Amino acid sequence: MSQEPKIPVDLTGVPETLLWTLFFRAQEAARPDALLQDPVAVDLVERIDYPFEARFNQGSGWAQWQALRALTFDQAIRGFLAEHPEGTVISLGEGLETQFWRVDNERLRWVGVDLPEVSGLRNQALPVSDRRTQVSASIIEDVWMRGIDDSKGLLITAQGLLMYLQRNQVHDLFRRCAQRWPGAQILWDGVPRWAIFATAKQGGATEDASMRPPAMSWWMDGREAKALPGVGQVRRLHPPKGRGMLFSRVLPVLERAPLVRANLLSVWSARF
Ligand SMILES: C[S@@+](CC[C@H](N)C(=O)[O-])C[C@H]1O[C@@H](n2cnc3c(N)ncnc32)[C@H](O)[C@@H]1O
Repeated sequence: MSQEPKIPVDLTGVPETLLWTLFFRAQEAARPDALLQDPVAVDLVERIDYPFEARFNQGSGWAQWQALRALTFDQAIRGFLAEHPEGTVISLGEGLETQFWRVDNERLRWVGVDLPEVSGLRNQALPVSDRRTQVSASIIEDVWMRGIDDSKGLLITAQGLLMYLQRNQVHDLFRRCAQRWPGAQILWDGVPRWAIFATAKQGGATEDASMRPPAMSWWMDGREAKALPGVGQVRRLHPPKGRGMLFSRVLPVLERAPLVRANLLSVWSARF
């Protein structure tokens, strides 16, 4: 067992949610029958000083769902890399995602963007690579857009991020990316409308130590996906099949059922 002191983490609000996604990915990856291979995430959870179990005391279904969501992005990134093996991937609101190590083909370039407190944590906690750059900035501003090498193909991902922005901020982000990188691809996920109401009750503590999810603002459905400025070839991506009746049989059907699918979290791809 490592004798190194654990990494202290003191995040609140939206940045704290990166620990939720990390924890559930690691939970899934630690299983013998894991759908997601993510040893870097498993190692990170062991090294971070944070009451994961007490804060995120939800059922194990979340772990599988989180892994399937991550795999949906991974598959699309691998597809991009098959065509652009030396391309650049920009991961917006990257948190402690360990996707770089999951999809790395040893040729790609990777740029992670997150707020200063999170970028500092990534720099402290994760291995360095000369093909990976960390940018400490808010995606609301333009700073992160400077100096990106898009000469060998560019893919932008926004995983678990846009629902925390206002609609005008999301549209502004798409507009700025479309202006700067015509032809680039973008992947993102969006929550359905009910998630906005479910997370609206803010303030106050929960009765136990568990985390109250921060309020989400931007929701989307197929119509909103097409209303996003500067994009074409908009398509919904579907998670791979998982284990058990829910994730192997029911979810794949629901994902394609017209009335139901608008009420599920969805992953999308488009081109500027
Ligand atoms: C739910 S976490 C998702 C982390 C990671 N993408 C994942 O899927 O595990 C949301 C992330 O968005 C980041 N974030 C929120 N607002 C941001 C902003 N304006 N600019 C950059 N990052 C932001 C948070 O710091 C946090 O890391």
